[in-house]
Amino acid sequence: MDMKGRHFLTLLDYRKAEIEYLLDLAIRMKKGEEKRSLKNKSLAMLFQKASTRTRVSFEVGMTQLGGHALFMDMSTTQLGRGETVGDTAQTLSRYVDGIMARLYKHTDIEELAKYAKVPVINALTDLYHPCQTMADMMTVIEKKGKIAGLKVVFYGDCGFNMFNSTAIGFSKLGADVVACCPNLPNYTINEKVMERARKEAIGKISVEHDAMKAAKDADVIMTDVWVSMGQDAEKAKRLQELKDYQVNSKIMAQAKKDAIFMHCLPAHRGEEVSADVIDGKQSVVFDEAENRLHAQKAIMAELMG
Ligand code: CP
Ligand code: NVA
Repeated sequence: MDMKGRHFLTLLDYRKAEIEYLLDLAIRMKKGEEKRSLKNKSLAMLFQKASTRTRVSFEVGMTQLGGHALFMDMSTTQLGRGETVGDTAQTLSRYVDGIMARLYKHTDIEELAKYAKVPVINALTDLYHPCQTMADMMTVIEKKGKIAGLKVVFYGDCGFNMFNSTAIGFSKLGADVVACCPNLPNYTINEKVMERARKEAIGKISVEHDAMKAAKDADVIMTDVWVSMGQDAEKAKRLQELKDYQVNSKIMAQAKKDAIFMHCLPAHRGEEVSADVIDGKQSVVFDEAENRLHAQKAIMAELMG
């Protein structure tokens, strides 16, 4: 499988076999069964938004592979003073072997990729968070032994980056994905993205507005913050409109007994998830966070190696 030089902007661009290959590589690298090297290679990491996990896991991942990562806060680069995305991409490509970017608008990362001569990895935009979903799928494989045939239910804001990537990735690998959200345009599924996802989906992507009904027989219960980065002005409205979609013990009780709870983090206890669920036995959120490191090492090794 040769993925050298490719961008990683959305899982829509990767075939099922390629995703499975990357997940298998990540699991083997985590177990120490396979070693990869990016010795003397550099990764530029462009951040327009805050991050804990993404920044640290990419930076540590490059160190572990023998390379180097450069943290670039957009506000202290010339991009913040009006240099174009295209000029930045062409300039960085003369120095580094890969560019990782966390940007507000997905169209900006597409622009970056258009001009870059090295692989561009999406570390979150408004539309997708593919690296998170790779770590999530890896975690589900570790916990459940498979993805095909499982029922994954995503609670809350199903119109944004995390639901989009979850639906694309998990359905492509054969899981049924349920969006459990209010029947309001802000939170329901992005039909354009889902139309593309369904073209290659093996599992079903569906919507259920009844929070209790949605959880029935679920293998995986997942959620994300109700107020994503960049949505702070709508905070009060969002908390009010999403309040019936909290993942709590009543929801978990409807799911299968061995269901797992997942969250990309950061979490807001008492909002999208109750403390007893995220801190309880069914929660795998820190394995999920750890797997960001392993999944991204596999992606970087393949694309930049
Ligand atoms: N899940 C995730 O991307 O976390 P950070 O925002 O901390 O990077
Ligand atoms: N939907 C969240 C994910 C954070 C990792 C956000 O965009 O802020």
